[in-house]
Amino acid sequence: MNEKDGLPRPVPVAGPPGPHWRRQTRRRARTFRLLALGCLCFIAFAQWKQLTQPATPESPPTSGLTAHGLSLTRLEANLATCAQLRKKPQDPIGFGRERNARYIDGHAPTLIRNASVWVGEPAAGTSPDAARKGHGYSWITADIYLEHGLIKRVAASIPLSSVAADALVYDAAGRPLTAGIIDMHSHAGVGALPGLDGSEDTNEMASDITPYVRSIDGLHPADPQIQVIKSGGVTTSLILPGSANNMGGEAYVIKHAVGKADGRNETSAADMLADPERNWRFMKMACGENPKNVYGRPGRGGPTSRLGESWEFRHAFEQAAKMVQAQDDWCDAAALGVQGLKEYLPRELRWESLGALLRDQVRLNTHCYTVPDLEAFVDHTNEFKFKVRAFHHAHQTYLVPEILKRAYGGVPPASALFPDTMWYKVEANTASEYAGKLLYDAGLTTVYVSDNPVLNAQHVVFEAAKGYKYGLPYHAALAAVTTAPAELLGFGNRLGKIKPGFDADIVVWDSDPLSVGASPVQAWIDGTAQFEKPFLLKKPAPEPIVPDESLGKIPEGPFPLDDVIFTGVSKVLLNGDFSNLSSNSTVVISHGKLACIGACEAELLAAATSNTRIIPLKKGYLTESFTAFGSKVGLNAIDAESDTDNGPTGTAFTRGADGLALDTIKTNYSYAYGVTKAISAPKLKHLDTHHGTSVAFLTGAQTAAEQGAILLADTAVHYTLDPSVKTAGEHTSISAAVASLRRKLFHAAASLSNPKQEADTDPTSEESFLRRVANGSLPLAVTVHSADVIASLLSLKSDLDVSLPTPLRLIILGGAESHLLARELAAANVSVVLSPAFSYGVSWDQRRALTGAPLTDGTGVDKLLREGVVVGLGIGEDWMVVEMGLMAGVVWRNSGGRVGEREALGLVGGNIWKMLGVREKGGHFVVWEGSPLEVGGRVRGVGGGRGWVDVWV
Ligand SMILES: *[C@@H]1O[C@H](CO)[C@@H](O)[C@H](O)[C@H]1NC(C)=O
Ligand SMILES: *[C@@H]1O[C@H](CO)[C@@H](O)[C@H](O)[C@H]1NC(C)=O
Ligand SMILES: *[C@@H]1O[C@H](CO)[C@@H](O)[C@H](O)[C@H]1NC(C)=O
Ligand SMILES: *[C@@H]1O[C@H](CO)[C@@H](O)[C@H](O)[C@H]1NC(C)=O
Ligand SMILES: *[C@@H]1O[C@H](CO)[C@@H](O)[C@H](O)[C@H]1NC(C)=O
Repeated sequence: MNEKDGLPRPVPVAGPPGPHWRRQTRRRARTFRLLALGCLCFIAFAQWKQLTQPATPESPPTSGLTAHGLSLTRLEANLATCAQLRKKPQDPIGFGRERNARYIDGHAPTLIRNASVWVGEPAAGTSPDAARKGHGYSWITADIYLEHGLIKRVAASIPLSSVAADALVYDAAGRPLTAGIIDMHSHAGVGALPGLDGSEDTNEMASDITPYVRSIDGLHPADPQIQVIKSGGVTTSLILPGSANNMGGEAYVIKHAVGKADGRNETSAADMLADPERNWRFMKMACGENPKNVYGRPGRGGPTSRLGESWEFRHAFEQAAKMVQAQDDWCDAAALGVQGLKEYLPRELRWESLGALLRDQVRLNTHCYTVPDLEAFVDHTNEFKFKVRAFHHAHQTYLVPEILKRAYGGVPPASALFPDTMWYKVEANTASEYAGKLLYDAGLTTVYVSDNPVLNAQHVVFEAAKGYKYGLPYHAALAAVTTAPAELLGFGNRLGKIKPGFDADIVVWDSDPLSVGASPVQAWIDGTAQFEKPFLLKKPAPEPIVPDESLGKIPEGPFPLDDVIFTGVSKVLLNGDFSNLSSNSTVVISHGKLACIGACEAELLAAATSNTRIIPLKKGYLTESFTAFGSKVGLNAIDAESDTDNGPTGTAFTRGADGLALDTIKTNYSYAYGVTKAISAPKLKHLDTHHGTSVAFLTGAQTAAEQGAILLADTAVHYTLDPSVKTAGEHTSISAAVASLRRKLFHAAASLSNPKQEADTDPTSEESFLRRVANGSLPLAVTVHSADVIASLLSLKSDLDVSLPTPLRLIILGGAESHLLARELAAANVSVVLSPAFSYGVSWDQRRALTGAPLTDGTGVDKLLREGVVVGLGIGEDWMVVEMGLMAGVVWRNSGGRVGEREALGLVGGNIWKMLGVREKGGHFVVWEGSPLEVGGRVRGVGGGRGWVDVWV
């Protein structure tokens, strides 16, 4: 299972045998009988054939039998297998190859000129200690020559005259160039997108222990997401089975080049294998919540607890260890002569792969979040003597470096993390965005991964960028998606670096890869360019990031202060004109309010003699605070835990204000990341659905009763028209749900002229709220992604507007496909809150989302803004609340200059209030060190409308 909702996809449980169920069973029984009959026929045929055929080598003549009646030929073959079984894989070589085994004849060599190259290792002569600190790493200007799928030369200047006459020449124009990005945790291909039952093969859930299944057997090369991922510069991925099972199965490292269009000979999973020689094997295991939640249900056979999980692990390892021991005994005996052996080499397919793990031929990656899971698993490694290369998800590894160091094999496992994806289940509730840095400080290795489709692996390099934002040094953050996974996968000589002998997997970027919105301009896999006509975003000449070591200091706070002074503020992006300020302004806060912005000499002078704290900033920013619209912040604490959630509403129309629950990790993080206001509605079914009225509130408030905590009790009226509506309430079809909404709205419109009816109704009933929608005093927000359903809504609105006093105020929430109707939405004055801000076609109704350069000319937001639609950015999942500034930053950076900083910030603030038709409550502000739109920006002060300012230092 992936981690999208913390819970497995619903497993069909046979219901009471109704007619439909019986029909199915009958059909199945018939198919089975036919199949069985077919098999029987075949066996009869085969036996007859054997009787009438001369003996083959598989059934040797009696003369080849030992005294115990065993076939000598087979025993000799078994003995040869012993060598195979005991093979010790080595990391395959890089340098020293003439050609890459994946190279396809006929592909021309390529000379890449004038690139700014990140080699992936420090300059020669840098000591290991200095290198660990990042010394010796830099961007160097170089030319690179690719031939036979390998990097052949890297030099300051490679003259054209020195390369093959047919070489293609690519001018990188000084742009940054890195090795292809490696994602060490992906389900691309096995959980093909858009997610549909028919192509979902991530987990084999027949049993909790399935080390014997293989992800390659379900890998769909035609999964469009494989191409989308590559468009983010990801050239290599580890395709893992899901984490429903304690032992999930074998995994495979693939490159994202598929079929002829991408320069491959054929379209097959085998053709995607990064190491066609298959030196190492890979495996996935998982501990904790998932297996016990999947198998702990009635009829599933357990385990029901972590205790049971440990037993499942140990029991399976015991079987495999027994088999390995029996094989070794046999092989030792056979080495002395096979004649006296009483049996053939013992083998059992079920335990074969696990045996290979015990023989150190398999690189194991284990999904484990919490301290007990990590500790138990490390115990298993020592009990059964096998290595685990990385713990995945691993949110609590930063708390227990000593446990990791106890793992079998002497090398502590790495942590494959998300920097800030959290709160979606209990295991993810104690995450720290600083984990990467803390692990680094403890001498351990951090890797950032996507868990695609949980995160869109296209942006896995952005996870590394956030790792850097949260204190992991720049070089280690880049290593976390290049050299570190390469080494952990056994490809340390081939992938992750720009050096002669390495595979020619290369990305040229339009900006520093760890900057917001960084997009590839071109990518090569095994020396073949992957994008025929890449869209190129208009950006200023790229400047490499100068690593900011001050990011390594974890901010402390919040310290609530009445008065504080910030100096060194270079930009003020509050509403109003502050264009006259110097680039070194002072911001004075007195009694929690902005009291002076500018030189503020008098205040600075007075502060010298008072206790007022002065905080100097480097490149400070002062902005409005952000608003999260349509999340579950304030209505849910831990996504997957129903006790912490307001719950689904089904057919009931309710008010968010009635379910508000504050003082959670989510509300605290929101506030600390500058999101002082949230507007949340009850969910219809899933967390990203809505039904009822949304409440606007202060994220900093401890309870709803606190003075001013509720900004607006009923902000918008919400309905959901995504596929979940078919299973959530009274409707079983989209058409029925649209019809029902139309009926309700027309009824409300009609009742406007019937004052009696109005007087009769509860002011918080659905009817009353809909009358307020009809009379123009409340907006209608509909959660919908599909362009087709949005088209239905536009038609509904145009029919309805005729009978309304003012046109319906409609907001589309979600809107993955809204860009297809950008012009129509603008014409109808309909606004859109994109949620998530950058959709990637996870589901059928989002499949036409635009994923951006180099595949598409911008994303949905660009198209909507170009047509003049009022747009806001929502958060598809609540953890994204910590990166609303960065979301706006991506739009700003990738807009080709059309969206200024202020407009970008409006996407996560002012625009939301504009489309709601409500005057935004003033007096909230955020003080940043660095730009909120860029990776290095950090919150230093928040004025959240509560009479003081909270400060982080
Ligand atoms: C690709 O196909 C060509 C022509 O069929 C063949 O000669 C070549 O060996 C193939 N290369 C690989 C790497 O499969
Ligand atoms: C490399 O690219 C930069 C940026 O476009 C340019 O200024 C410089 O002249 C180029 N150098 C060469 C040798 O082409
Ligand atoms: C900006 O400064 C100039 C020159 O001091 C002044 O004339 C102008 O009115 C100022 N504009 C604003 C908006 O304060
Ligand atoms: C910015 O202004 C503050 C307060 O006036 C002053 O202390 C500081 O030296 C100035 N910094 C620069 C770089 O001018
Ligand atoms: C939220 O933050 C406040 C203020 O720092 C703190 O008192 C409270 O314990 C925090 N609540 C949670 C759930 O973290």
